[in-house]
Amino acid sequence: MPCVQIAENIYSVGVTDWNIRDFHGYSTELGTTYNAFLILDEKNVLIDTVKDGFTDQLLANISRVIDPREIDIVISNHAEMDHSGSLFKVMHRIGQDKPVYCSKAGKKALSLHFPQKLNYREVKSGEELKIGKRVLKFMETRMLHWPDSMFTYLPEDKILFSSDAFGQHYAGPEMFDDNLSEIIMHHAKKYYANILMLYAAKTLKLLGAVEEAGLEFDMICPDHGVIWRKNPGAIVEAYKRWSNQETEDKAVLIYDSMWKSTKKMAEAITDGLAEGGVTALPMALRKFDRSDIMTDVLDAKAIIVGSPTLNNNLFPTIADFLTYMKGLRPKNRIGAAFGSYGWSGESVKIIEKELTAMKMDLPLPGLKVQYVPDEEALKECYEYGKKIALAIKA
Ligand code: FEO
Repeated sequence: MPCVQIAENIYSVGVTDWNIRDFHGYSTELGTTYNAFLILDEKNVLIDTVKDGFTDQLLANISRVIDPREIDIVISNHAEMDHSGSLFKVMHRIGQDKPVYCSKAGKKALSLHFPQKLNYREVKSGEELKIGKRVLKFMETRMLHWPDSMFTYLPEDKILFSSDAFGQHYAGPEMFDDNLSEIIMHHAKKYYANILMLYAAKTLKLLGAVEEAGLEFDMICPDHGVIWRKNPGAIVEAYKRWSNQETEDKAVLIYDSMWKSTKKMAEAITDGLAEGGVTALPMALRKFDRSDIMTDVLDAKAIIVGSPTLNNNLFPTIADFLTYMKGLRPKNRIGAAFGSYGWSGESVKIIEKELTAMKMDLPLPGLKVQYVPDEEALKECYEYGKKIALAIKA
């Protein structure tokens, strides 16, 4: 990513990770960026650093504007290593005794990641730091998505440096959202579904606090992906919608299959759902990454899970997905289970138990077929889909 001036005396100096395809279990098919920002004033400020391995690129970008040693202050909005992995190396280059402003939890997390002592300065929500003509205002955003997370706001420019919030794992030639609305919203949705969904209630509270404080945004600069400047309100509104867990007349069928029997059931249920006027997406777990499935789970009213029985248990990919989805805590959903079996047939019961533990409403008993679904069984699957469609629309 080149160094780009994004406002008067404010530069984007972060880097692009074109080749990353797996971000701790999240598929990043286009790569991602680790954004960092440089503000020039009486005190020069660097907001966030980058993942270890990209330090030289970050310093090279800064050097296009100023000598890195002219940086007076570093702000660490988030201690996770994609934004702080190069912190110590950067401090070593710019002057190790210079202050690093972060939240109290940020100081703790950074101290546990870096044995070397740095000059941490703790800040709390509402605290301000005058850097010359400009003032930096801090807002703690605990558990969005780590205990240390915080925002830094520039009131004069109405620019929010939002850390992971409003981010997207997107790498491309664009710096801004100007011509990317649909594509970038998809990546923002995927990011929210996989990183923030479990903190939906906290996100709503934070958005309420932002509104109450009357903060206005001309630009939102997240730590991943493009900067929102064309219509920053659109991503804030989307976050409200997602955090309210608003759903559509849509069903996601998440399944795996050993000998195509559960697959045939999934397809017949899909047809029944479609006949019932519902958008139905069959997603085979060996064809779709779990993080892409979660993107569709985010706004689907019905989550329908199918697994063959293997060794008196679930098929392993289904167990993996259920664990992942449970952690992300989708709410207000209808659930259903189906699957084929040979002789014992425990999978449907196990899925139902898991969906119930996720507080999903199960309007119909699960559907089981022994060995291979015949024409009659497929008709039953089709009718099952139609009944779920009715429950979705009820
Ligand atoms: Fe992009 Fe929570 O780190």
